[in-house]
Amino acid sequence: QGADPFPAAPPETLEEIAQGIAACRRCPIGCNGTRAVPGEGPARARLLIVGEQPGDSEECAGRPFVGPAGQLLDRHLRQAGLDRASIRLTNAVKHFRFEPRGKRRIHQTPTAGQIDLCRWWLEAERRLVKPDMVLALGASAGRALLGRAPRLADERGTAMRLADGAGLWLTVHPSYLLRLEGAARDREEARFQDDLARLRIMLE
Ligand code: URA
Repeated sequence: QGADPFPAAPPETLEEIAQGIAACRRCPIGCNGTRAVPGEGPARARLLIVGEQPGDSEECAGRPFVGPAGQLLDRHLRQAGLDRASIRLTNAVKHFRFEPRGKRRIHQTPTAGQIDLCRWWLEAERRLVKPDMVLALGASAGRALLGRAPRLADERGTAMRLADGAGLWLTVHPSYLLRLEGAARDREEARFQDDLARLRIMLE
């Protein structure tokens, strides 16, 4: 890793970021043969949503949030009156970390070190997109934005501010909701919806 430092000058366009992440081999995920998934959405957006990393569907499509978690997110965005087309969506980690199991690729959470390394790209994207608000979905996104492990239980629902002045709002990752069933699923989806509804009010 030390042999391949980040360039001294950060990327000046989103296209440069897309090319940079595609060529990035600074951590083992970048070397696993998968394609990097760049952020998607307007180059200047008031809201930036940050997930953890592309999943199996996203790696195949080369686009963020197109699989089951993305579909659930889309439904909640619509319900909260937030228009996906006006939002920029990206991930804390740009490649898909997985464990092969037979023909399947099973998601593996990126390590703190991998998130911290990939943060350089996220910071570059934030500098260009200049969002007013950033929504972090889950602990990996929270870590990438705060530079430390978030305390989701306390910090969820608390408006925070990043060093550049953008607002930060933390909530759970939609994949967490997909793993729940019955009453717990209904309760947590309602809380998630409430987080998005409050975010929409902050954007008004
Ligand atoms: N989960 C994420 O965190 N990001 C995606 O792009 C898809 C699923």
